[in-house]
Amino acid sequence: MRAALNINLYRSLGTINPSIYGNFAEHLGRCVYGGIWVGPRSSIPNEGGIRTDVAAALKEVGLPVLRWPGGCFADNYHWQWGVGSGGERRPRHNLWWAQPEPNEFGTDEFIRLCRLVGCEPYICLNVGSGTVEEALGWVEYCNSAQDTYYTRLRRANGGAEPYGVRFWGVGNENWGCGGSMTPEQYAYEYRKYATYLRAMDGTVPGGLFLIACGFHDDWNFRFLREMRGATHLLDAFSLHLYVGGYSRSATAFTEEEHYRLMGDVLYMESEVARACHLARYYSSFGRQIYVVVDEWGTWYPEATVPAGLFQQNALRDALFTACALNMFNRHCERVYMTNMAQTVNVLQSLILTRGSKMVLTPTYWTYHLFRGHMGGTAVAADVDAPAVQDNQGRSVPVLSASASVDGDGQRIFLTLVNIHLEDALSVDVELVGAKAGGEVQGRVLTAPDVRAHNTFEAPKRVGPKNRRFAAVGTGWRLRLPPASVVALAVPLS
Ligand code: AHR
Repeated sequence: MRAALNINLYRSLGTINPSIYGNFAEHLGRCVYGGIWVGPRSSIPNEGGIRTDVAAALKEVGLPVLRWPGGCFADNYHWQWGVGSGGERRPRHNLWWAQPEPNEFGTDEFIRLCRLVGCEPYICLNVGSGTVEEALGWVEYCNSAQDTYYTRLRRANGGAEPYGVRFWGVGNENWGCGGSMTPEQYAYEYRKYATYLRAMDGTVPGGLFLIACGFHDDWNFRFLREMRGATHLLDAFSLHLYVGGYSRSATAFTEEEHYRLMGDVLYMESEVARACHLARYYSSFGRQIYVVVDEWGTWYPEATVPAGLFQQNALRDALFTACALNMFNRHCERVYMTNMAQTVNVLQSLILTRGSKMVLTPTYWTYHLFRGHMGGTAVAADVDAPAVQDNQGRSVPVLSASASVDGDGQRIFLTLVNIHLEDALSVDVELVGAKAGGEVQGRVLTAPDVRAHNTFEAPKRVGPKNRRFAAVGTGWRLRLPPASVVALAVPLS
C-alpha cells in the first residue's frame, strides 16, 4: 500500500503542551494500593512506601502531570481522612468501587510520588459530597506559605514548603457519580467554588488552573452559557472519552473490532473539535478557556468492578493510543492536557504489577516513543492514504501522523501509525519549508500479532526496536510494517 504525507513547516498548529501526555490514577482496584503504594514496611523495594520500580518507569516515560484521587472516588473523598500520622487515618468505605479505603495514601504521599516522578500534581476536588470550605482548606494545606492551622498541619506532616499545586478540578462527572446535577445546577456550584478558589490564585505563579467538569455537547453548551459574565473563573472544561466496550477483552477481539477501535479515534476527534470550538467562542469574552481530556482510553468488558477494572493491554491499545495522541497533537492549540485512565493495573494502564513484579504495557511504549513531541511546535502533517471501512460505516485512513518542530528548529519529530493488520505501508513524505539532513535512528513498535501483549512470564514480547531510516532533502520514503507505530527525529538542514 502507498500513502502520502505532506509536512508543512509554514503551517504551525500551536505548541504541544507537555500536559497532553498526562495520566490519571484513582483509588480504584489495585491502581494506588499495590500498584503505586506498598507501604514503607513492604519487602517490595519502595521509597517511603512508594514503589521504586513504578516511580522510575513513570519518570523514564517523562510523565508530565498526574490526576488524582479520582474519578468518582473524588466526589466522596474528604482529604482530611488521608493526612496525619497513623491512627487518624481510619479505613473508610470506597463507595463507588466497593472496596475498603485504608487512607494510607493521601495528599502528602501523592505529592511525594509526583516529586519522585518529576510530574505536576492535578487534584480533583470534592463537589458532590464536599463543601467550598473543605476545598479551600485543601488548597490552603497544599499551597499556602502563611502560618495557619492548615499549613501547620502540613508542616507537621513533613511538608515544610508549600506544594505549589496548580491544577485543580472542580468535581468529577457531576452529571453522574459526582451528584447527578444538571448543567445549570453544576454551573451554580462551580461559580461558588471557583469564586473562592480564585482568591487563592496568588499561591502559585500564574494562578490556579481551574478545570470544570464537562460532558457531551449539550451539557458543555448549557454550562458555558451559565458561565457568561464569570468566565474569569474558568480555565478549562473536561471531556471523558472511553471506547472499546464492544470488544470481549484487550486480547480477544476480531479484526472488525480492531478497525472499529481505530475508527473510534474519529469519534473522539469530533468530540474534541466541538469542545475546542466552544472553548474558542467563550474565550472571546476575555479569558482563554481550554479543553482538558482528563479521562480517556479503552474500557473492555473484562474490566468489571469486582475485578478492580483490571484489563490486559495489547499491541492494539498501543496503536489506538498513537492515533489518539496524533489527534491531540493536531488540536494542541486548545487541548491543554489529557490524562489517560489509569496509570497502573486499572483500565488502559501504562504499567501492570503483580506482587513485586512489574510489566510495561504496549501503551507505555507508545508514550515512550512519543516523548519527543512534548513542548514542540505542531506543524501540519496532511495525510493522503487508503482507508478501511469499519463496521460502523466509517472510512478510517490506514495512516495516522503528527509532526512537531523542536524549540530551536533543528529537528522535526514524526510519529506515524499503520493501522493495517496485513499490509506494510510505503509513505512518500514531502517536507515543505525545510530540508531533511540524512540517515536517522527511528523506533518501531510492532509484533507479529496485534493481540500480542506483555505478561509477567514474558514481559518483553511487545517493545520498541531501533531502525535506521533515510530522510534526505524535501522528499523521501518511509516503510511502515503492518500494525506498527514509528517515531523518528529528523535533523533539519
Ligand atoms: O476511570 C474510571 C471511572 O470512569 C472514573 O472514576 C469516572 O470518572 C469514569 O466514569
